[in-house]
Amino acid sequence: MKNNRRDFLKKSGLAGLGLMGAGLSGSNKENTPFKLNNRNSFNMHGYKAPKIDTVGVAIIGLGNRGTGTTRRLASIEGVEIKALCDLEPDRVERGKEILETTHHRPDGYSGGEDEWKKVCERDDIDLVAIVTPWHLHTVQCVYAMENGKHAYTELPAANTIDECWELVETSERTKMHCVQMSSSCHGGRQAALLNMVRNGVFGELIHAEGAYVHDLLNDYNFTKHMYHNMWRLNENIGRHGSLYPQHGFIPISQMMDLNYGDTVEHLVSVSSNDFMMGETAKKLAAEDSYWEQYVGKDYRGNMNVTTMKTAKGKTIVIQHDVTSPRPRPQQPLLSGTEGFYANGRFATDHRRYYTDEEFQELVDQYTPEITKVFNEAVQQARNTERAGHSYFNVTATDWRLIDSLRNGLPVEIDVYDAALSSAITPLSEWSVANRFNSVRVPDFTSGAWKTNQRGMDVNLENGGGTTGIL
Ligand SMILES: NC(=O)c1ccc[n+]([C@@H]2O[C@H](COP(=O)([O-])OP(=O)(O)OC[C@H]3O[C@@H](n4cnc5c(N)ncnc54)[C@H](O)[C@@H]3O)[C@@H](O)[C@H]2O)c1
Repeated sequence: MKNNRRDFLKKSGLAGLGLMGAGLSGSNKENTPFKLNNRNSFNMHGYKAPKIDTVGVAIIGLGNRGTGTTRRLASIEGVEIKALCDLEPDRVERGKEILETTHHRPDGYSGGEDEWKKVCERDDIDLVAIVTPWHLHTVQCVYAMENGKHAYTELPAANTIDECWELVETSERTKMHCVQMSSSCHGGRQAALLNMVRNGVFGELIHAEGAYVHDLLNDYNFTKHMYHNMWRLNENIGRHGSLYPQHGFIPISQMMDLNYGDTVEHLVSVSSNDFMMGETAKKLAAEDSYWEQYVGKDYRGNMNVTTMKTAKGKTIVIQHDVTSPRPRPQQPLLSGTEGFYANGRFATDHRRYYTDEEFQELVDQYTPEITKVFNEAVQQARNTERAGHSYFNVTATDWRLIDSLRNGLPVEIDVYDAALSSAITPLSEWSVANRFNSVRVPDFTSGAWKTNQRGMDVNLENGGGTTGIL
């Protein structure tokens, strides 16, 4: 009997693959439940869209975040906000009021589920900023691109792998950019860390960790009227995975040159049970019957840990925790052959961390040109007294997007970055649902990552940096 089994393994060629003793239940089998690649119709990475001197902007969704988006974009030179759209008329009015002391005079659109389509159809708009609930992002991005507009969407850009592919295919076909508004390495400490990685301060980067740790339990998800139709709490029901990986992942992907030099090949994801959301619903329902509809639901496991491996053999861990009282960690954690960084501290030797002064010297030395130019633009705005100015709200990433469009430069978080980072959620949900098995990650560049030029021109070697802040 024993010999027969050995013969079978020999004949089938499995003996050499180390499966003896491991059973034949597929320990070497790859899980590929989703479409892995495509034939790219055009490569949007590095694509220089025609220059736009004055960028006509429309903003769709004027809730918590969209109000801030309005302020931020209104304070960048070369932007003209032409349209504001929300289902709720009072939000559009509030948006207009915010802009009253500026030169922007947008038209308002409200009252219907599909009013946003009219905004996308206008011919004086170049960039549509999408700040609506998650389920609307892809459909709105696609419609904007189909109507000849660049799309700038809040995260996640897509919710399913099919939506990720739809974004990639639409962007390639229309040659319109699809940019995701995530954290990025354009400003502050993250930009200096990226430049340190590029200059070999970490040696070879081997491993990185990022997270979305933000206690949204009581003051956000379980607060009536915080979000449109309670969309955010509803997203936490019946979904088990890494629901918001972009803030942690995108800076790491920029440091690891993902989509332009390396790519993520596999992912595995584990979720804890829910210990908090169900209990919160019960407690609230005891006082207020409104919350009874939220009792007994299948809430997202409170902690999700998703681990990935890249084609070049590097590892990435992304955590998601929006319920525990855990303070936010400083991002990211970076571990290389010669350096280590975590929680604001740097080391090149396991016995001691650099002092704060020593590390600050490194940060100063490696702060890239893009951050310096951005900081100068903010400083100049601070020195200029103007009514309604909001320079302090502008992020380096917003500023760089407008600067890139005005200078005809490639955007620095392109459709492939939006797709890869958004794909983490459905892939992690698949892994959690399949007993934490690994899953193959689609290659949205369809192989172009091997030859794509490095993105993130943080030293402005290809130009730009000419846009001011108001
Ligand atoms: N990048 C960040 O740091 C950051 C921070 C906060 C929120 N966000 C993201 O911003 C997005 C919006 O979050 P929020 O907190 O502002 O939510 P919100 O519920 O406060 O705002 C959503 C707005 O969209 C409007 N809306 C809904 N359906 C619409 C439709 N069909 N047409 C036009 N308007 C419609 C709602 O009326 C509401 O005003 C989410 O994707 C969220 O994840 C990102």
